[in-house]
Amino acid sequence: MKQWIEVVNFELLSTKIQNLKTDGIIFLIDEFVWDLYKDQLNLKSLVGAIKKKVILKRLPRGEKAKCFSVYERVCEEILEEGIHRNFHVIACGGGAISDISGFIASSLLRGLSWSVIPTTLLSMVDASIGGKTGINSKFGKNLIGAFHMPEHVWLNPLFLETLPKVESLNGYGEVLKYSFLDKKIKESLLSSKFKIGEIILKCANYKNKLVEEDFREKGPRKYLNLGHTFGHAFEKMYPVSHGEAVYWGMKLLFYIFERKDLLKECDNMVKELSLSFGKPPWLVHLDEKSSLVNNLMNFVKRDKKVISEKEIELVFINEDWSPYLIALDFETIRIKLDNFFKESHVGE
Ligand SMILES: NC(=O)c1ccc[n+]([C@@H]2O[C@H](COP(=O)([O-])OP(=O)(O)OC[C@H]3O[C@@H](n4cnc5c(N)ncnc54)[C@H](O)[C@@H]3O)[C@@H](O)[C@H]2O)c1
Repeated sequence: MKQWIEVVNFELLSTKIQNLKTDGIIFLIDEFVWDLYKDQLNLKSLVGAIKKKVILKRLPRGEKAKCFSVYERVCEEILEEGIHRNFHVIACGGGAISDISGFIASSLLRGLSWSVIPTTLLSMVDASIGGKTGINSKFGKNLIGAFHMPEHVWLNPLFLETLPKVESLNGYGEVLKYSFLDKKIKESLLSSKFKIGEIILKCANYKNKLVEEDFREKGPRKYLNLGHTFGHAFEKMYPVSHGEAVYWGMKLLFYIFERKDLLKECDNMVKELSLSFGKPPWLVHLDEKSSLVNNLMNFVKRDKKVISEKEIELVFINEDWSPYLIALDFETIRIKLDNFFKESHVGE
C-alpha cells in the first residue's frame, strides 16, 4: 500500500483535511502540541467548512500516551460518540502519538484509514513513515501493535520552531543515519542551500522507498537499522535519547570496522550543522571497561537482529557509500569492542 508524503503549511494542511473523502474525522493530538498549535490548526473553521463530524481527543504528551490505559480510554470514548467504517483517523504529534493513534486506527472497527501530521523531527523522518504502530507493555516497548499504513503524511517543518533542543538532536541522530545510507542526502545536508524541509522530505522518501520494497522487513528495510544495535544498547544503559543513542551506535560501529573516512564525515556533518552531541556516554558515565563490554554484549545478544546462537546481522556501509547486511559472530564483536575500549582516547 502506498502512502502519500507531502510538505505542507498550515493553510494547505487544512485544505488537505477538507478534501479527505470520508464521513467523519477522529483527530488525535498530543495535548502539548494542541496547546501550542490550536490556533494555527484552526479546527473550528475546519469543522464549519467540512460539515463532517469531527471527534477531537487530546492524548497525554509523548511516551505517556503509549499505554493500555490510554488506548482503552480513547477507544471507548470514540465508540461512545458513534462512528462507522468511513471515519478517518488523523494523528498529530511526535512518534509516540502516531504509534498509538495508528494502533487505534488499525483496531477500531477492525481497521479505519488514517493519516499523520508529525510534529517532531524524529517523527517527520522516521516514526510517521512505514506503518509500524503500537503501544508499550510492561515487558518492553512497542510489544503490542500492528502494521497499518497511513494514507497521508503531511510534513510541516513549521512545527519544529517550538521543538526543544533535546528533541531536535533526537531527530538529527536519524537524519545523520540517512546521510550515511544515501550519499545524496549527505550532499544536501552539506550544501550551502541546505533547507530542512527538503532534507526531511528526502529522508522520509528514502524510508518510504525501502518500506514499499520490503514492507515486512525481510530485506532492504533492515538498512534503516544502521547504528541501531549498539544504539539500542546505549539507550538502555545511559540516559540518552533514541537519536543520540543511534548517533553513538553508528560511531562505535565505524570505529570497530576501522572506517576512518566515515568517522571523519560524521564529525564534519556534526560541525557543519552545529550539533552538540557532547562526549560519548561511556566517557561521561566512566564505566569500568570490562563491565562496559559485558553490558554491551548482553544487549547485543538480546537484539532483534540476532540470527543464530552465535551471530547477529548488522548493517554496514560499502566503500562506495551503499548499505549492506553482514553477519558477525559475537566472539569477533567482543574482541573488537575489547580493543576499542582499551584505547584510552576512545571517542574523544
Ligand atoms: N513507528 C515507527 O516506525 C517508529 C520509529 C521511530 C520511533 N518511534 C516511536 O516514536 C516515539 C518517539 O517519538 P518522538 O521522538 O517523535 O516524540 P514524542 O512523541 O515522544 O514527543 C516528545 C516530546 O516532544 C513534544 N512535542 C512534540 N511535538 C512538538 C513540537 N512541535 N513542539 C514542542 N514540543 C513538541 C511532546 O509533547 C513530547 O513531550 C517512541 O515511542 C518510539 O518508539 C516509532
